Amino acid sequence: MFRFTAILAIVSLVPSIVTAQASLYGQCGGVGWTGATTCDSGSSCQEINSYYSQCLPGSTTVPTTPTTQPASASGTTTSSAPTSTATGAAGNPFTGYEIYLSPYYVAEVQAAVANITDSALQAKASKVANIPNFTWLDEVAKVPTLGTYLADADALAKSSGNEQLLQIVVYDLPDRDCAAAASNGEFSIANNGQANYFNYIDQIVAQIQKYPGVRVVAIIEPDSMANLVTNLSVAKCANAASTYKACVQYALEQLATVGVYMYLDAGHAGWLGWPANLSPAAQLFAQTYQAAGSSPFFRGLATNVANYNALTTTSPDPITQGDANYDELLYIQALSPLLIEQGFPAQFIVDQGRSGVQNIRSAWGDWCNVKGAGFGTQPTTNTGSSLIDAIAWIKPGGECDGTSDSSSLRYDPHCSLSDALQPAPEAGTWFQTYFEQLVSNANPAL
Ligand code: BGC
Repeated sequence: MFRFTAILAIVSLVPSIVTAQASLYGQCGGVGWTGATTCDSGSSCQEINSYYSQCLPGSTTVPTTPTTQPASASGTTTSSAPTSTATGAAGNPFTGYEIYLSPYYVAEVQAAVANITDSALQAKASKVANIPNFTWLDEVAKVPTLGTYLADADALAKSSGNEQLLQIVVYDLPDRDCAAAASNGEFSIANNGQANYFNYIDQIVAQIQKYPGVRVVAIIEPDSMANLVTNLSVAKCANAASTYKACVQYALEQLATVGVYMYLDAGHAGWLGWPANLSPAAQLFAQTYQAAGSSPFFRGLATNVANYNALTTTSPDPITQGDANYDELLYIQALSPLLIEQGFPAQFIVDQGRSGVQNIRSAWGDWCNVKGAGFGTQPTTNTGSSLIDAIAWIKPGGECDGTSDSSSLRYDPHCSLSDALQPAPEAGTWFQTYFEQLVSNANPAL
């Protein structure tokens, strides 16, 4: 600590070399930094960690690393921050922002509400349109809509005075959903998939770059890394492994250049939370973090995306029997120290969109349109754990997990199990009966 203080003191003695202004997203401070410490207009210097401050959009000035340590009441210097909070990022990206409602989801919900005849149910359902959800960019053709939403969010921020945060899911890997069939995507590795994916990411980056005033939070590629931890015995996953890694790395690197805060998908308690999977998972996530340049914008991991697990429970679902990590918090608490050991101080975001009702599955691996599910805890940064930045609704409730039509190309048998609601349409399309079920069973009630 003393060494840091000394170095910073020396830096402060050489103002002649720090007069230029750093550009948007440029470095503007940190231990040993001798470049510009102020930013171009429209951005301000914000401390990401003690080694790195960066010019970020907006005028809020967050003080950079102090050049002297604050004195404690007794006159001695304060101790350094505990290592467990050395998150490597500038704090919770959700703090101070209003979440922009996804127009895509709002339109789906409004159409669904119009189709409900029971007026009590209709009143509850209409509330869902005001609860933040994520926009899934599950095909390249949807990327231009992101530009429209960013422009709208930017205008809203200006007219309301409330800074806007837009939530997206990046979900278009080649050979997507390699261990299942329901969400197979548009790109294939055999047919130029990696280049197509890079182009998909480039298009997202180009849109976001135009609106530096809007904060973007992205979930990166649900299921991708988890499949590489446990499903390499599936030929499609083994064949996809190196491409998935290259594509995810590209997404993480490129989106960081435009200041997107990212959480890479980390499956859920019933997948990577098993003792045998925790260490390999931590290793893969830490390697991915390092390969992508240990960017502070790679904020951490997302869990339970599109799944049904509780964040915490005092009575574990019988299907979890045998796994000490029977809920998401236990999983996160088990994974976190392993990640920190390997140099990845990850924070978490947890999907609770469909977790309102527990003990509804016949097996923990059942993921398709599970009967009896209800909307869960509503999005909040009041998470009860310093490891968790936000509880969110990530899977848009009412969008289907997969078709139950066995003649479909993307038919997956999980979607006709006895605990799956049927008949179900194609993945991602609207499933009205399922939406109504989520509304009726919401816990807390809508
Ligand atoms: C589907 C996507 C959809 C996403 C969110 C996935 O299962 O494959 O098309 O965007 O769910 O509903």
